[in-house]
Amino acid sequence: MRILHVTSEVAPYSKTGGLGDVLADLPIAQRRRGHDVTVLSPLYGSVPRDGLTRDAEPVAVSLAGRRVEGHLWRADGLLFFQAPDLYARAGAYGHDDDPLRFAALCKLAAALAEGYDVVHLHDWQAAMTALYVGGRRPVVQTIHNLAYQGICHPGWADALEIPHELRRFTGLEFHGNLSLFKAGLVLADRVTTVSPTYAREIQEEPGGQGLAGVLTHRPDGVAGLLNGIDQDRFNPAADPALAAPFSAAETAGRAACRAALQAELGLDEGPIFAVVGRAVHQKGLDVVAAAAPAIVAAGGRLALLAGGDPAIVHGLRAAEAPGLVSLNTQFDESLSRRYYAGADFFLMPSRFEPCGLSQLIAMRYGAVPIVRRTGGLADTVVEGETGLTFFDPTAEALLGAVHRALALDDAGRGRLQAAGLAADWSWDRSAEAYDRLYHDLLPGETAR
Ligand code: GLC
Repeated sequence: MRILHVTSEVAPYSKTGGLGDVLADLPIAQRRRGHDVTVLSPLYGSVPRDGLTRDAEPVAVSLAGRRVEGHLWRADGLLFFQAPDLYARAGAYGHDDDPLRFAALCKLAAALAEGYDVVHLHDWQAAMTALYVGGRRPVVQTIHNLAYQGICHPGWADALEIPHELRRFTGLEFHGNLSLFKAGLVLADRVTTVSPTYAREIQEEPGGQGLAGVLTHRPDGVAGLLNGIDQDRFNPAADPALAAPFSAAETAGRAACRAALQAELGLDEGPIFAVVGRAVHQKGLDVVAAAAPAIVAAGGRLALLAGGDPAIVHGLRAAEAPGLVSLNTQFDESLSRRYYAGADFFLMPSRFEPCGLSQLIAMRYGAVPIVRRTGGLADTVVEGETGLTFFDPTAEALLGAVHRALALDDAGRGRLQAAGLAADWSWDRSAEAYDRLYHDLLPGETAR
């Protein structure tokens, strides 16, 4: 199959979260299955150009008579849309003309769609492609996070070529505004999200963030297909960032990794609880800040690698204590792998979590996850088998799980750790599930 992915992020070129990783790793697994896969994404000012080549011929898209001119840049399986007027700025998101910036990407995707069997859209930034393709090709829309919906003023409707019949609530209208995400959610042939539990949560309020009605209205519902991780990129048996290699079969090296992290962060003796994540409301790190004094009083040590929202970072700063709570706000990919490899436990108290990749990486690196039972966390961490779980997004509930963690003896913790180390989070399983979904959409295929 020829597959075109449309996305606002692709790692390592542009990445603010898990979306970028998915668009780097899923195509690799799909190519392993014999497909011809292309990822289309904007060429932001920050994307390094080395290794990319620019097409000689310019490209242009037009939206309501406005011409956006640019060039396509290519690397293996990657297509970047360079349109200096739209993308050559600091930061991928947060500009007043974001509706136009991403609609232009979608317009280009629709123009390229003829060359593909399936067009696969990711999050709201790609969703308008479903409108512009207009049924000429099968379209799949994946929800990585429903909290960002591409909401804009209805005054954008003409400039984005939204037909009048789609300006109503059965179309893109959303509480008097427009939600560009709805183009994909209403018009795509299939809607998927990144875990079965999140698929259920968003078909009810408040999880659906106002869109549960739209999603439950789809006759085919929302399918939940779990993400994976690139088991070569995240491989403690061959990770140059680590003090020593280890694996499920040969765990001895992990002690050296633990000692190295403890020394690197200057932590006192005691079980190490790590956090690696963006400090945003979704991730619940304010709950970690609130629980920090009690975790320390119970004997735990905290290793926090989290930058982001200044108010949340401020709360974490207030919890900082030499030897007991270490905070680093400068995310760095190889440093993060030393946290995963050295921590005893990994905290992830997300308020909601469509899939979550960090808990998978934690298990792969032998840190026992302690997670809130929501979304993909509920689907990947099994209480008492691969980790510990709690439900309320409160310091008390988190502490309850931390106390259970501290009560484990070496054998008990070792059992959870071994189960996590042995788990298979490879992308092959997901790629196979996407294959089945695509196949049902191809002409001549009968539904199965
Ligand atoms: C978003 C979600 C996260 C998910 C990722 C990739 O970042 O918040 O849960 O793992 O997308 O699908």
